[in-house]
Amino acid sequence: MNHKRVLLIVGGGVAAYKALELVRLLRKAGVAVRPILTAAGARFVTPLSLGALAEDAVRSDLFSLEAEAEMGHIELSRSADLVVVAPATADLMAKAANGLADDLASTTLLATDKPVMMAPAMNVRMWLHPATQRNLSTLCGDGVLMVGPDEGAMACGEYGPGRMAEPEAIFQAVVAALEGGARPLAGRHALVTAGPTAEPIDPVRVLTNRSSGKQGYAIAGALADLGARVTLVSGPTALAAPAGVTRVEVETAREMEAACQRALPADAAVFVAAVSDWRPDTVFPVKLKKGRGGPPAVTLVENPDILAGIAAAGPRRPRLVVGFAAETNDLEANARAKLARKGCDWIVANDVGAIGPGGAIMGGDENEILLLDAAGVEHWPRAGKVEIARRLAERIAAALAGGEKA
Ligand code: CTP
Repeated sequence: MNHKRVLLIVGGGVAAYKALELVRLLRKAGVAVRPILTAAGARFVTPLSLGALAEDAVRSDLFSLEAEAEMGHIELSRSADLVVVAPATADLMAKAANGLADDLASTTLLATDKPVMMAPAMNVRMWLHPATQRNLSTLCGDGVLMVGPDEGAMACGEYGPGRMAEPEAIFQAVVAALEGGARPLAGRHALVTAGPTAEPIDPVRVLTNRSSGKQGYAIAGALADLGARVTLVSGPTALAAPAGVTRVEVETAREMEAACQRALPADAAVFVAAVSDWRPDTVFPVKLKKGRGGPPAVTLVENPDILAGIAAAGPRRPRLVVGFAAETNDLEANARAKLARKGCDWIVANDVGAIGPGGAIMGGDENEILLLDAAGVEHWPRAGKVEIARRLAERIAAALAGGEKA
């Protein structure tokens, strides 16, 4: 990473302190960092600490004669291999999306001819506001690379997506961008569901299944590696969110459906989750006790079919909709029936009853699949779930690039 240069714009938000750690990681890797601190950013971190860590002068003022004499703002905007905005506030995103240029940071973003990466950070309501989501789509369409945001507890006391990605995740994304890895999905948004769902019976018991989430998480990570902005809607798993992926944690099928609908629009959607087909029709408010009368009767009702709902034609249908088929018998025939019934473009079918040299497919690290579309079927031999994910992400990138459906 020696000789690589990053122009780092630090916006105004509580997350600005994490930008200092990002600078440290970049400097440690030999990347030169030239910092720009917005006026709001300077309320959260001092120019002194930013400059000391970056080992360079901090620029803040568009109209500084001294700084302009040394390096004009146009030259500054082009002096780096990559422009990184962390934290990217709602305001900075709005300015960049609309071409406003009223301070050094926004002018730099408008004047640069270099790739731009943003790590958004803001209150959850601000992030979910249609205006911010519109700006996000515009920026992604302009080729701006997005890292995060993460979901979690926020300084404002609320919980949800909007927390800035961790410095390590931003660092990894910066390194990948500087290394010039293939990013054919840059500017695209992919929705992935993963893991099981858990349907409550009473406050302590749930109806769930053996899905580990490994295949879905690997697919989310592989899509992010190719440059996509990825929303991973996940049931309960023991896995960490892959770098650069926004995870939305849910429990029930109905929560998963609502989170998927909120995540639209998307260019591609991959439904890997093992969604519980049924849920108890009533959730007992207190723990069911053994006792007279014998075991309780639990009546099940059908859950919404998330995949079928999103695959149905309409203006919000992603261009490419991929379903999974978990089968224990008649794999290809059942998968082909599912392709038609669900209305998706591809079905990835796996035999979840199979046990091979590498162990069981469900919960294990390997998979063996059939990829079906309207035209035919391909058999992908047994391989690691990460390798299957990588190949699938490449196929998705090729399909979106070619404008084909399947
Ligand atoms: N799926 C979904 N919502 C549901 C059930 C399934 O989105 N309520 C999705 C899964 O994520 C997967 C696909 O539909 O992509 C097929 O799931 P699978 O469990 O194999 O099929 P089922 O719909 O349960 O059909 P069947 O009962 O015939 O196996």
